Amino acid sequence: MSGFPKIRMRRIRENSTLRAMLAEVALEPRHLVLPIFVCPGEGVSSPIASMPGVFHWSVDRLPEIIEPASDAGVKAYLFFGLPDYKDANGTSAFDSSQPVQRALAFLREKYPDIFLIADTCMCEYTSHGHCGCLSPNGRVDNDETLKLLSMTALSQAKAGAHMVAPSDMMDGRVDAVRDALDKEGFSEVGIMSYAAKLASAFYGPFREAAGSAPGFGDRRGYQLPPSNPREIIRDATLDIEEGADLLIVKPAGPCLDIASRLRERTDLPMAGYVVSGEYVMLNAAISSGALDRERALIEYHLSVRRAGCDLVMTYFATELARML
Ligand code: PBG
Repeated sequence: MSGFPKIRMRRIRENSTLRAMLAEVALEPRHLVLPIFVCPGEGVSSPIASMPGVFHWSVDRLPEIIEPASDAGVKAYLFFGLPDYKDANGTSAFDSSQPVQRALAFLREKYPDIFLIADTCMCEYTSHGHCGCLSPNGRVDNDETLKLLSMTALSQAKAGAHMVAPSDMMDGRVDAVRDALDKEGFSEVGIMSYAAKLASAFYGPFREAAGSAPGFGDRRGYQLPPSNPREIIRDATLDIEEGADLLIVKPAGPCLDIASRLRERTDLPMAGYVVSGEYVMLNAAISSGALDRERALIEYHLSVRRAGCDLVMTYFATELARML
């Protein structure tokens, strides 16, 4: 007797059948959400320079991205828009003639079974590129922005969104958007809230894709400091208390710890967003030959599931769904 139990971990790892049977976390097509950029015009499918492999799509050509994704098993889509015009208050965000609203109406009718999520933010629509309107002192005006966001969420719900995803990070946004939706009879429209959205360098390529880089300053006044995990959890807790239906954590890879801490605190469903910078980083490492494409993509996204996320939002959704 050695005193040690006769444990050999290999007994449960070596047999590939048993290994597959015992997989604790799985990544499947149903877990994936594909973000899509819609632009004005007709017949447009134009490559986004900062995100090779990702395109701007005009509404009429959306079937070319949705159908292959949906055939591969992707069920949900998140929409960002490039508007026809921008102004200080981002009024094109709640204009029903703009790309996101037209896309939602078109897709809701054409594909009744897919799930439509609208990103609700002002930064793509304001001339200064901040996520809200400015007060005279040049800072983002939290409470005035809540009104604009509510109008935006409402117009997205009217156009056909199943869920709205406020990503502006103003305080009180979930409560404000919930009230606005309920008052207008959209109580069935859910709120997928960017509960933990860090001030991150990894949004760089997106800002070029969405034309939403701030014209001055940065977003550190309203996005969360990566050095402060407790503050991040506290901020996310507010979204839970205000009635968010689903929480988003981003950028996913750098926030796995946050996802797993949130997982222990709430039973709400949660999504991790593998953002533009992670997309570019992975592609760069893969195309240099340093990483195996399939193994790296699956491992990266599976890690987000392992951290406790139910869903993974990713520009790789169609490709991953085909691999899985
Ligand atoms: C809008 C928004 C951003 C992203 C999602 N919603 C950009 C930002 O906050 O600057 C980033 C997504 C990505 O990088 O893929 N506020």
